[in-house]
Amino acid sequence: MKTAMITGVNGQDGSYLADLLISKGYYVVGLKRRTSSINTGRVDHIYDNPISNSQFKMHYYDLSDGAAIVHLLDKYQPNEFYNIAAQSHVAVSFDVPEYTSDGIAQGTLKILEAIRTVSPATRYYQASSSEMYGDSDDYDQHGYTETSRMMPVSPYAVAKLHAHHMTRVYRNAYELHASSGILFNHESPRRGETFVTRKITMAAAKIKAGLQNKLLLGNLDSKRDWGFAGDYVEAMWLMLQQNTPDDYVIATNRTHTVREFLEVVFDYAGLGDYNKYVEIDSRLFRPNEVPYLLGNPAKAKQVLSWQPKYDMPALARMMFDSDYAPFVK
Ligand code: NAP
Ligand code: GDD
Repeated sequence: MKTAMITGVNGQDGSYLADLLISKGYYVVGLKRRTSSINTGRVDHIYDNPISNSQFKMHYYDLSDGAAIVHLLDKYQPNEFYNIAAQSHVAVSFDVPEYTSDGIAQGTLKILEAIRTVSPATRYYQASSSEMYGDSDDYDQHGYTETSRMMPVSPYAVAKLHAHHMTRVYRNAYELHASSGILFNHESPRRGETFVTRKITMAAAKIKAGLQNKLLLGNLDSKRDWGFAGDYVEAMWLMLQQNTPDDYVIATNRTHTVREFLEVVFDYAGLGDYNKYVEIDSRLFRPNEVPYLLGNPAKAKQVLSWQPKYDMPALARMMFDSDYAPFVK
C-alpha cells in the first residue's frame, strides 16, 4: 500500500485529494495545524466510514515547524508528499504579509530540506498558483503557460513564487522528484466562505431562502479562469505518477469576470438581476489587483492526459445547489 502525506488536509484541496488517494488505495497521513475550535468538517466523512477511516491518520503539524516535519517524514517515509497548506487568501496577505510569507516560502523550504535529508525517494507536489503571474502581460490568446513571465502583485504571490522556484532548485540540484502545479482558481461546495465564488453562492441561497437581502462585494471586473477543485486534485496526483518531475499549468482555458459569475448564479437561482442585491464596498478592493487570468493547460493535456470536466457555469450551479440544499423543505 502506498503512503501519501498531505499538508492542509482539512482545507478544500486537501480534503478532495485525501478522498481521491483513499479511493485509489493509499494510506493517507493528513497534516493539520492545531486550532482552538474543531475544523475538520471537510474530512469528517473519512472518519465516519470504517473503510476510509482505516486508510487515514491525522497528525498535528504547522508550516513553521521544521523539526516536526523531519520527524514525520522519517517515521512514515511516504511515497508521495503533497504540500497544500497555506494562508491562501490573497487579500488577507496584505494584512499579514510576514505570516503569509513565512508559512508559504520558508515552510516550503523546510519541507524540501527535510525530504532531501531524511526521505529523498519521496515524490513532492508544490501547490503553486496562477496568482504568481500577477499583472504580467506575457500571454497570448490561449493564456499563460508554464514559461510565461511572472510579475506577482501580492505578498501571497511573491511567497508562492519563492516556493515555486525553490521546488525547481531542489529538483535540479538534488534530483528530487519535485513538481509544481500552477493551478488557476478552483472552487467547489467545500470552498472557503470568504472567497468570492462561495460568498456569492451562499448569499444567493440565503437570499432565495429569505434570510439575507444584501451582498457586499469589491471589484467585479477582474477575470478568473475558474475550475472545479475535484478535477484539479486529479492533476496533482497525475504529476507525481510521471517518470520525470515538471511544472504544469492546470486551468479550464476559459476566463470570466466576477460579474459574469454573479449573473450565472443569480439567474440560475431565479433571483433575476443581481443589481437588486449587490452593493459595492470599497473596503473589499485590494491594494493591488490581478486583473486577468487565463491558463493554457495544453502541456497537462498532452503529458498527463488531464482535462477538466466542469466549466464555470456548471461549477456555479453545483455550488449554488449545494448551498441551497439545506433550505429545501
Ligand atoms: P484552503 O482551503 O485555505 O486550505 C488551506 C489549508 O492550509 C487549511 O487546511 C489550513 O488550515 C492550512 N494551513 C494554513 N496555514 C497553515 C499553517 N501555518 N500550518 C499548517 N497548515 C496551515 O486552500 P485551498 O483552496 O485548499 O488551496 C490549497 C493550496 O493551493 C494552497 O496552498 C493555496 O494557496 C493553493 N492554491 C489554491 C488555489 C485555489 O483556487 N483554491 C489556486 C492555486 C493555488 P486551517 O483550516 O486551520 O486554516
Ligand atoms: N474574496 C473576495 N471577496 N474577492 C472579491 C470580492 C469579495 O467580496 N469582491 C470582488 N472580489 C474579487 C477579488 O478582488 C478578485 O479579483 C476576485 O474576486 C477573486 O477573489 P478570490 O475569490 O478571493 O480569489 P483570488 O483570485 O484572489 O485567489 C484565489 O485564487 C488564487 C489562484 O489564482 C485563492 O484561492 C488563492 O489561494 C489562489 O492562489
